[in-house]
Amino acid sequence: MNNVIDFINTSRDRYLDELKNYLAIPSISALPEHAADTRRCAEWSAEEMTRIGLQNVRLIDTPGHPVVYGEWLGAPGAPTILFYGHYDVQPVDPLELWESPPFEATIRDGEIYARGSADDKGQVFMHFKAIEAHMKQNGRLPMNIKMILEGEEEVGSANLDNFIKANKDLLAADVVVISDSPMFDRGIPSICYGLRGLVYFQIDLRGSKSDLHSGSFGGAVANPNMVLANILAQMKDRSGRIRIPGFYDDVRELTQEEKDQWKRLPFNEKRYAKELGAPRLFGEKGYTTLERVWARPTFEVNGIIGGFTGEGAKTVIPAVAMAKVSMRLVPNQDPDRIAELFEAYVKKVTPKTVQLKVTRMHGGKPWMTEFDNPFVQAAGRAIEKGFGKTPVFNREGGSIPVVATFSEILGLPSVLFGIGLPDENAHAPNEKLDLGNFHGGVIASAYLYEEIAGIRK
Ligand code: BES
Ligand code: ZN
Repeated sequence: MNNVIDFINTSRDRYLDELKNYLAIPSISALPEHAADTRRCAEWSAEEMTRIGLQNVRLIDTPGHPVVYGEWLGAPGAPTILFYGHYDVQPVDPLELWESPPFEATIRDGEIYARGSADDKGQVFMHFKAIEAHMKQNGRLPMNIKMILEGEEEVGSANLDNFIKANKDLLAADVVVISDSPMFDRGIPSICYGLRGLVYFQIDLRGSKSDLHSGSFGGAVANPNMVLANILAQMKDRSGRIRIPGFYDDVRELTQEEKDQWKRLPFNEKRYAKELGAPRLFGEKGYTTLERVWARPTFEVNGIIGGFTGEGAKTVIPAVAMAKVSMRLVPNQDPDRIAELFEAYVKKVTPKTVQLKVTRMHGGKPWMTEFDNPFVQAAGRAIEKGFGKTPVFNREGGSIPVVATFSEILGLPSVLFGIGLPDENAHAPNEKLDLGNFHGGVIASAYLYEEIAGIRK
């Protein structure tokens, strides 16, 4: 391994030049005008995968953006990793808040700033470089690997489940490795053993066929903005508990053991609130902040549009109002069941004065693994070697829906080997990746392959 690590240590500058090229491609999957860029990013990924020594590299078309596939299967008898990552990124708006252009990666204070640096191209690239180091120095990897990179993770992975179902043999493996999550905190590397699920909806209300003069008609009809506010206000009670009947039925309560472990984590509520710029934290009564984010379900209003929002004043009753809402789910909540409960409740609390349309959007199941799984333990040892610190085991509030799919369709455990940081502005302006963590992550990934190779099948 020493030669591999030496190679990594002497390649730092080259890594950054290459990573900048990867981050320069605006692979925004949500925006049709970036479809060609997104494909170009798939092609860049494929070329890189070939360059580092993977075989049978190809783009596999889906009804949406292509999946990139590559493999190296030269270690018969050793375990096979199925690596999953995504090459698509979130939109960059509001652009004016970026301190440097989102697709011109810029290094400031030991961090590389660009859209996709943390989520997820930088973390995918870390594995490219760990593979390259093994291949360049030893001509082989210690284990087998199949890599799939998706181009639609940020828009809900609509085509991925079908891709996995249709390619079960191609994807057969022993363990899934994913680097698409933050570590617990700066200087506190972690292995993530749980993710929340998600259901997402759009609510549309119509109160009249056209906007109405609020003087001529105010008092005669309901105002859709007001009705919408009322509906949303009925989703939670004052203690932060969600009021949808049956919503909590399947929620697995935290064990005392988990609660105790989380209490021992170095987490400072005051500092956390300050970093977020929040005057005060808020959430479901009776749970700590970490418990609320990692192990309790939530209801959020992602956005609201309705009526006049321009400069000045306009006296109007809007014809329509719209909200995008979502719920993060925890084990053992089922997105389909929660979706039914939600729709029934919205219908119940919507008055007859407006027309209601509820549209279900993307989502995914929550996920949790046992952390005494040998692959999870192997990941812990690799992190320790790469970062010089024993990792903590944490859960996360975010979602990677495919993790549950890997478990259900392929029967595979997943290892979440993330090296981002919670304050790296994923999905926000000024996304960045800490270069120390990136470099430690390349070393840790190189060790991860060796640790996994040592596990008997
Ligand atoms: N990298 C995130 C997932 C993540 C975020 C894991 C925070 C752990 C902590 C991923 O790219 C993402 O943003 N996922 C979406 C999924 C959704 C579009 C179905 C999410 O969580 O909102
Ligand atoms: Zn993301």
